[in-house]
Amino acid sequence: MPEASAVAVKAGPEVAIITGAASGIGWATARRFASGGYRVVVADLDGERARARAAELGEGHAGYQVDVALPSSVHRMIEQCLSDFDRLDVLINNAGRTTNGGLGLVDQPSAIFDNIFDVNFEGTMVAAQAAASVMAGRSGGSIVNVASGAAFRALPFRASYSASKAAVVRASVRLAEDVRSQGVRVNVVAPGFVRTELLDDLIAQGRLDPASAVSKIPLGRMGTPDDLAAAIHFVASQGTFTGSVLNVDGGSHAFGGSGAASPSVGASVMGTDNTPVVHLIVGCDAQLTSALIDKLDLGTTQLQPIGAATLYGKGSIKVAFVGSLNEVTDALLQELHGQGNLFGVVDTSLLEARGARRPLSELHHLIQRIGPKLLQQGTGSFVSLVAEADDPAEAGREAGLEMLVRTIACEWGPRGVRANSLRMAVQAEHATPIDDVAMAVRYLISPEADFVTGGQLDLSRGIRPVVGQA
Ligand code: NAI
Repeated sequence: MPEASAVAVKAGPEVAIITGAASGIGWATARRFASGGYRVVVADLDGERARARAAELGEGHAGYQVDVALPSSVHRMIEQCLSDFDRLDVLINNAGRTTNGGLGLVDQPSAIFDNIFDVNFEGTMVAAQAAASVMAGRSGGSIVNVASGAAFRALPFRASYSASKAAVVRASVRLAEDVRSQGVRVNVVAPGFVRTELLDDLIAQGRLDPASAVSKIPLGRMGTPDDLAAAIHFVASQGTFTGSVLNVDGGSHAFGGSGAASPSVGASVMGTDNTPVVHLIVGCDAQLTSALIDKLDLGTTQLQPIGAATLYGKGSIKVAFVGSLNEVTDALLQELHGQGNLFGVVDTSLLEARGARRPLSELHHLIQRIGPKLLQQGTGSFVSLVAEADDPAEAGREAGLEMLVRTIACEWGPRGVRANSLRMAVQAEHATPIDDVAMAVRYLISPEADFVTGGQLDLSRGIRPVVGQA
């Protein structure tokens, strides 16, 4: 990557370029960033619509015409942004296309095949490398590349679509490693089925049956552009983690069973009425407890303890901390229920159990204790913290734990309960910052993550100096 000279960054709100932002996921993401205080560049092939969208966002935003398949057009977009705003903090490579021709690879015209790859992959990489170069010379920055579940499974009769998205994932992870020491984060969000114009076109052409698509999703519904916007905003703007992939797909990538993933329609939204919500955190050390109290904005006053649980809370959200799995008794769950709907259950006890021979049994016991309660409510979010392994047997158990969480996601999804794991580095020299963990927990137990299940978010690599580097 070319060296960029250090340039002083002007004060003022951060600037985010979002490609393909005139419609669908990109437009929802533009609104999310604008409401989060960013100045947004709405960049799209349809320049007129991009400018109209920017005007809808209000003063201080801009709309650019760009064809991401053309490197010169991508470079112009970045230069224009620097000239208009004098800074670039976030790039969301969201522009993408597929084909609705339904032709197999043998019959696919090269022009369409190549353009899909150029838009989805080459354009993403040109923009990411150019932006990373600018960000590296300033105060760092964050890039999110939008891939697809098609990056992990081949979609027949869609030309180079799956290949282009697989390329996005692999290249993003490599780029993340290349630029991490320069303070630039690169992560991937991989959507599942989301109702946008792209999908509506496929449905209109008879190329996608919505009922059959939904039957492959454990949560029993398609995503909304707002689900994706919340995920992209979280990944782009929170924490220091890099080189990670967040699947936002209602659990479809995690499902490997035969038959339908979801016989019924699920609904996991956290109390939309005024019912108070209680989260239960199992096994935290003092540092993580205080980071969670801070990030969940719980105030510092302890409430009346319930059994072995220490309780914090403000407004309609309370959080109970217990020291170990043994303290999660039926009586405790019953009493917590008296305080409101039990929604988030976060297990950190496996970090302590690192090196223990049977962490899967420990997790199984917790699942057996909390499962009936969450399933009875038909709502909830389970988060399991898993430590990065440092020997082969531990690596095997780590994979087993993550797959167990995905299995719960598939079993519980149709009943409206989500499950995700967070992978963190625990070795002192490169440990995951505790604030990253707390922010990821906050996101996963919030309604913003309502379409995220079966996910494994890897927080183990960050934009901190690599061990051995100055
Ligand atoms: P959409 O079709 O609703 O919007 C795509 C936007 O990208 C449009 O505004 C279009 O004008 C723009 N665009 C297309 N080609 C461009 C180019 N060469 N240069 C600049 N802009 C261009 O699509 P949707 O559904 O919002 O998709 C956004 C991203 O999410 C894409 O990368 C897509 O592959 C990905 N995705 C979408 C899924 C879905 O179910 N909707 C599933 C998985 C991934």
